[in-house]
Amino acid sequence: MDPLLKDKTVLITGGTSQLGRIFVAKAVQNGARVFFTYFRSATVAQALEKIGAKGYALDLADVQTMEAFAASFQKKTEQLDVLIHNAATTADSLIEQMSEKDWDRVISVNLKAPFYLTRQLLPLLLRKQPSKVFMMVSRAGLSGLYGAANYAASKGGLIAMTKTLAKELGRKKILVNAINPGFMKASMTAGVPESVLQKNLNESPLKSFSDPEEVADFMVYLSSGLMRQVTGQVFHFESRPL
Ligand SMILES: NC(=O)c1ccc[n+]([C@@H]2O[C@H](COP(=O)([O-])OP(=O)(O)OC[C@H]3O[C@@H](n4cnc5c(N)ncnc54)[C@H](OP(=O)(O)O)[C@@H]3O)[C@@H](O)[C@H]2O)c1
Repeated sequence: MDPLLKDKTVLITGGTSQLGRIFVAKAVQNGARVFFTYFRSATVAQALEKIGAKGYALDLADVQTMEAFAASFQKKTEQLDVLIHNAATTADSLIEQMSEKDWDRVISVNLKAPFYLTRQLLPLLLRKQPSKVFMMVSRAGLSGLYGAANYAASKGGLIAMTKTLAKELGRKKILVNAINPGFMKASMTAGVPESVLQKNLNESPLKSFSDPEEVADFMVYLSSGLMRQVTGQVFHFESRPL
């Protein structure tokens, strides 16, 4: 049997994230040509390049850098089968203390960059259909998250954008879906107090957190030709009922 992602070109932002790096390795193993972006984790990026992926350092809060990246990326590859908006940042505080700068940065990286890169890379996504766009979201975007109005708003915005782009791009055979990977122990959640971790665990009938290996396997499946006729959905990879 052919590897699941044979002949597929994949671009994932935040390939250096806890989840991203596992997905990159699995996508390479499954035969994809994998490109990823990263911000500060140059050592992780080098390790991913050693296994055959190609990394680009860029700040997704900076439109000019993204513009230059999108232009050069279009010259590097003939097609783009899968675009995954995975990079995200946080700057948590209660609304009284939240600065406009922290609001803008989180919204820029988490919400504006997916809009911008999808728009700029549309010509590549149209070259070989069906192609796919995935937004990595969070239950924060549905239920809110205490102390993280910026992050929750960005993820809620991504869910609305997923549903809208699915409607707009369906006739062009581009599938647009969102994935909520559930609560994974990762750098993004490193500052979460023990009491909150315990509460999350208690709410899980399985008494478990999400496993990024399992999420990455699901992302490989969704990226592959096995998933062909699903669009506008949010896949919740949660062990806690929503
Ligand atoms: N962890 C969880 O429990 C959880 C729960 C629900 C949803 N999610 C979502 O799942 C996705 C992956 O989560 P994760 O925990 O694996 O993420 P993570 O480990 O915190 O990594 C964040 C990623 O975003 C990149 N990044 C941050 N700021 C950037 C900027 N200004 N420009 C470009 N890239 C930037 C980082 O790059 P560098 O490392 O190179 O700096 C890194 O690759 C995210 O979209 C997150 O919101 C996570």
